[in-house]
Amino acid sequence: MDHAAPQPLRLAAPAPLSGQVAVPGDKSISHRALMLSALAVGQSRIEGLLEGEDVLATAAAMRAMGATIERDAAGVWIVSGVGVGGLLQPATALDMGNSGTSTRLLMGLVASHAVTATFIGDASLSKRPMGRVIEPLSRMGAAFTASPGDRLPLMVRGLVPAVPIQYRLPVASAQVKSALLLAGLNTPGITEIVEPVPTRDHSERMLRGFGADLTVETEDAGARVIRLTGEAELRPQQVVVPGDPSSAAFPAVAALLVPGSEVVIENVGLNPTRAGLYTLLRAMGGDIAFENPREAGGEPVADLRVRASTLSGIEVPPALAPSMIDEFPILFVAAALAQGRTVARGLEELRVKESDRIAVMAEGLRAIGARVEEVEDGLVIDGSGGTPLAGGATVAAHLDHRIAMSFAVAGLVSRAPVTIDDARPIATSFPQFIGLMESLGAERGLDVAA
Ligand code: S3P
Repeated sequence: MDHAAPQPLRLAAPAPLSGQVAVPGDKSISHRALMLSALAVGQSRIEGLLEGEDVLATAAAMRAMGATIERDAAGVWIVSGVGVGGLLQPATALDMGNSGTSTRLLMGLVASHAVTATFIGDASLSKRPMGRVIEPLSRMGAAFTASPGDRLPLMVRGLVPAVPIQYRLPVASAQVKSALLLAGLNTPGITEIVEPVPTRDHSERMLRGFGADLTVETEDAGARVIRLTGEAELRPQQVVVPGDPSSAAFPAVAALLVPGSEVVIENVGLNPTRAGLYTLLRAMGGDIAFENPREAGGEPVADLRVRASTLSGIEVPPALAPSMIDEFPILFVAAALAQGRTVARGLEELRVKESDRIAVMAEGLRAIGARVEEVEDGLVIDGSGGTPLAGGATVAAHLDHRIAMSFAVAGLVSRAPVTIDDARPIATSFPQFIGLMESLGAERGLDVAA
């Protein structure tokens, strides 16, 4: 983070939100584009890369392991890869900052290379469980020395050749799936992953795009079987990264909640494994139109036109959860303003994200006057029916970008200001967030330093 001191934030909406904006590139796709480009033989170009701290941590790590990565004057990222099997020993520890995706995916890459790497991260990342990747990667032959509880700092010693495995994912996690696929790239034979509940499939799409031999079969019960043949040769590509639907969620919910608003968010990725929030908000009565549907970089995209709406509470279908796993904090804000009760359960995974998103959202929402009951695996929220929340509290972001942005949006529909204690984590995924909200008509609190 750039600033040494916490940066408090308050946003208010003195008038309806309006305007047309574009959100930055998709975080998940940006990480994968850098990693696969760094493993291809030759030069790849990446347009629309998210220049957030998490993705920059991935870029720094790939450089430390031999790739050449530069940004040209037009903002296109040019990557010269080392080839699968060609990663070099990094000279110092790999600093993953706040990024769980960088950590878990890179642990997979290192696991099948002749590399020993130490991973370190910030206080939030150092609390997050890594056993979910350590366990299957150990079966492939990598050796790990981790901090107690399978946490960072940790060291990985890769094995060459690694051993291909067949693995059924015990948690619905695209990060675990992707770590194994990346490990499988430099592993002779077929790495097979069974995914009982489908999660985001950017790795599969992009691996195919880079020329890997990867198949996906859907079984009768809906499980997906993914088979990757190593040792793969990846061909350099031109990647176009679509706008991040997880970032678009914040201005979209803001436009739904601030009366009289109408906002267009351009070029939003709507891969079905990511678009669950929009399906759910529409089912709650949200006026969200998908305009100009098209393809960008092998992913479906559209422009979202969002108009202020009266929302109704809903029981979140468990099957939708993986496709909106990062959007629950902002959904909870929408639910706090909806009419009636919203029940969101089966969400244990939210407790091990950048913060414990169940506890942190329950506490923050209650502090600003929402009616929220915390249960073991989710929240039950009785909405205000559109009446602004009381506000008038300071909410701790706990080093979690999505908590900070969610409460900034809640502040737009509260009577007294909502202060976020520290907005710096927003730069991990959406550095332009505050400026974008201001361009739609939001105003920063006057008594908080700019
Ligand atoms: C991600 C997968 C999700 C998501 C994270 C990004 C990815 O995590 O929460 O923000 O890029 O693969 P899990 O796969 O652990 O649920």
